[in-house]
Amino acid sequence: MSKIVPPRTYRVKSFGCQMNVYDGERMAELLGAQGIAPALEGEAADLVVLNTCHIREKAAEKVYSDIGRIVKDAARGDGAIPLIAVAGCVAQAEGEEIMARAPAVKLVVGPQAYHRLPQMLARAIDGERVTDTDMPAETKFDALPARRKVGPSAFLTVQEGCDKFCTYCVVPYTRGAEVSRPFADLIAEANRLVDAGAREITLLGQNVNAWTGENGKGRLIGLDGLIRELTALPDLARLRYTTSHPTDMTDGLIAAHGEIEKLMPFLHLPVQSGSDRVLRAMNRSHTSESYLRILERVRAARRDIALSGDFIVGFPGETDAEFEETLSLVDAVGYAQCFSFKYSARPGTPAADMDGQIATEVMDERLRRLQTALDRDQLAFNRATVGKTCEVLVEREGRHPGQMLGKSPWLQSVHFTGKAGIGDMVQVELAEAGPNSIGARLLEIIAV
Ligand code: 5AD
Ligand code: SF4
Repeated sequence: MSKIVPPRTYRVKSFGCQMNVYDGERMAELLGAQGIAPALEGEAADLVVLNTCHIREKAAEKVYSDIGRIVKDAARGDGAIPLIAVAGCVAQAEGEEIMARAPAVKLVVGPQAYHRLPQMLARAIDGERVTDTDMPAETKFDALPARRKVGPSAFLTVQEGCDKFCTYCVVPYTRGAEVSRPFADLIAEANRLVDAGAREITLLGQNVNAWTGENGKGRLIGLDGLIRELTALPDLARLRYTTSHPTDMTDGLIAAHGEIEKLMPFLHLPVQSGSDRVLRAMNRSHTSESYLRILERVRAARRDIALSGDFIVGFPGETDAEFEETLSLVDAVGYAQCFSFKYSARPGTPAADMDGQIATEVMDERLRRLQTALDRDQLAFNRATVGKTCEVLVEREGRHPGQMLGKSPWLQSVHFTGKAGIGDMVQVELAEAGPNSIGARLLEIIAV
């Protein structure tokens, strides 16, 4: 075993969902607490963490090509290959294979084990190649350092894992069973986020609306109860949550959208397909009808709510007629924005072995048609908000001089020119709708 020079700088590259972004931030904090500094833009890092996503195709191939690129870049520079760590869901699913195939990788760490990164790193520096993909009973969150510096809009993971076992999905295998973080821990972390500058918190979970816990009075509450408790933080202006499952849209959570001002009028509720036969084959436990009923009730609670969803086209056996049912559902909803994907067979999931796998060209065509419909609705939604006055939380500077960027209550990207700082809450008039953003006129700065 040959020893490695202890890294002085790190870079964490996160792929995939917002939960990975959150995990990436926590890993960065953990490395920072070890005295390792973030590498500057354009500078080679001594330690590179690839925080990977396994949800769709080519994830593993992408990891190998990233590793290849890091090694090649090193050869062009001073020749020193950085210490490469593979984290996230590809690490969980294919850790052993990565170790066997990529000698440059010294460390493989799963999403439930990254709190042990410092100890693993010490062993890697000693020359060992270390893998930890355990799903320990103790939670990693207790072992992570406190949050110190965050932007105006911060993520807070409240729930992890999934028990739903949709037949196409790897998450129940890579992230494990549904676990809710304890109430007190979440209140403490939310307080620290707000102290560190957050004005908006997005509560995260693979099934965030399945969160349950005991509040300070020992009463069992759901996500709506947690949101209500968090509204008590005076400096916290906005709350959001993602991603939800239709089955866990409780009456309380639906009502919360009409009752809690700080809860932003946006709901991401994946449906995946408009065909009941496909939904059954996906093991989705809802029908297109029951899904539409939920959305109706949410809209009744909060008239202006912006709706979002996820779709998969080309699930095994999906016929043209079944795909048309998806298009009909899209027409019926009128989404503000959506994510849509071609079905990707994930090894080890039930759908990967189903008959009727769909040809790529057919999937391409269906995705194109679906995205045309979704783009049309997104633009229509944006256009319908023109002329409205709303609050925008300023998150960063834009590309043009004096331009600032932030989000509307409906999660639209808003840009305007004016003297406002990052973290300010400003009032704007939405003026010009594009497909992916809205131009606005600054009216006043409400809070700094
Ligand atoms: N193929 C394509 N899309 C998938 N998703 C999850 N698994 C797959 C898969 N095997 C999509 C779903 C989910 C989103 C996060 O990713 O739409 O809601
Ligand atoms: Fe995957 Fe379904 Fe769980 Fe979502 S609900 S994480 S799609 S298994």
